[in-house]
Amino acid sequence: MNILCVGDVVGSSGCEFLRERLPALKKLKGIDLCIVNGENSADGNGITHNSATHLLDSGADVITTGNHSFRRKESFQMYDTWETLLRPANYPPAAPGKGFCVVDLGRVQVGVINLMGTMYLESLESPFEKLDRILREPNLPKICVLDFHAEATGEKRALGFYADGRLTAMFGTHTHVPTADECVLPKGTGYITDAGMTGTIDSVLGVKPEIIIRRYITKMPARFDLASGPCRMDCVIFTADEATGLCTGVERLSLT
Ligand code: FE2
Repeated sequence: MNILCVGDVVGSSGCEFLRERLPALKKLKGIDLCIVNGENSADGNGITHNSATHLLDSGADVITTGNHSFRRKESFQMYDTWETLLRPANYPPAAPGKGFCVVDLGRVQVGVINLMGTMYLESLESPFEKLDRILREPNLPKICVLDFHAEATGEKRALGFYADGRLTAMFGTHTHVPTADECVLPKGTGYITDAGMTGTIDSVLGVKPEIIIRRYITKMPARFDLASGPCRMDCVIFTADEATGLCTGVERLSLT
C-alpha cells in the first residue's frame, strides 16, 4: 500500500494549491492513505474549522499538527471530537485531543502517530519514551506511520533510528524545508528528516521574506504576513508491505 505524507500546508495559498494538486497525485500514485500536516493551514498559523475542512475535502485522511496545534482557540474542541485530527501525543494528557489514531481502510488498518521534538521547542515529555509507550498499546495495527514535528535534524534522525524496524515510516515536519535523505532505514522503516512545505515558493517558511529579514536586523516583533505567488507541494510516498508492516520504497516529490 502507498501512504502519502504532505509537508506543512501554509495559509490559504498552500490550502488552495493542495486542493489543485492532491486529488490528481493520489490517483496517479495509487495512494491508499494521505497524511497532511496542517498546523499552519490557517492564515496566521494554527488550524481552524475552515482550514481543517479544506484539507479533508482536498483528500487528507489524517491531519497532524505540532507547536502551533493550539494557536487558535476554536480548534480546541475540534481536537476532542474529530477522530483524524491529531496533536502531538507527548503534550500533557490534560491538553485537548490525542496524538494517535487508527484509520480503518477495510482490508487493513493504519495507525498514525504525531509527536513533537523537545530541542528548541516546548519542553514536552520525551518523544522517545512516548513512542515506546504507544508502540506497547494492545491491538496496534501492523502498519504505523509517525509525523515527528521537530526543529533539530539530529533529534529527528535519532528518533528515526530509534524507531527503525518498529514503525512503517517516520516523516519529519516543521522546518518547511525538504531534506534529501529519504531512505528505508536498515531494519525496514521508511524515513525522511523533513517532508518540506506546501505553500509559496518565494518565502521564508511561507512568510514574506522582507518581514523576516527586517525582524532579524531589528530584533523587533512584526506581523508575519504570508507571501503570495507560485506554490510548491512537498511530499513523500512510502510503500508499505502489508504482511510485514515495513517499508519497501520511498519517493520524495516537489510539485509545482
Ligand atoms: Fe511547526
